[in-house]
Amino acid sequence: MSDGVAQLPVLDEGAGPFERHVFVCVAGKTCPDQGGIEVHAQLKALAKEWCGKVRVRVNKAGCLAQCGHGPIVTVYPENVWYAGVEVGDVPELVERHLVEGRPVERLLMRGHRPGPNVVRD
Ligand code: FES
Repeated sequence: MSDGVAQLPVLDEGAGPFERHVFVCVAGKTCPDQGGIEVHAQLKALAKEWCGKVRVRVNKAGCLAQCGHGPIVTVYPENVWYAGVEVGDVPELVERHLVEGRPVERLLMRGHRPGPNVVRD
């Protein structure tokens, strides 16, 4: 009986083991209160269901220095950053970006500069 993993090819040395890596800010100053924890949970569940454990990894992230624009979600290797993601956006994000490879335009982070973009109160 096979566990499915043994049949996968061995990657080149240093090659990333996942096709895509998603980070969701859940531990900073603002994203947790803006729904980051719920977005992470939903993203993790749908990514596992629609992409499997091998292709996509969804991780919690600490503050991504974009406080006030969250919840922030990043997708690598594309280096695409999403802002203001809500739980209701997750199915579209998973289907369009993680399954089909097309970033979701309406959720892209916009108007930011290189480095930290923290909203001060
Ligand atoms: S709290 Fe999410 S970017 Fe800082």
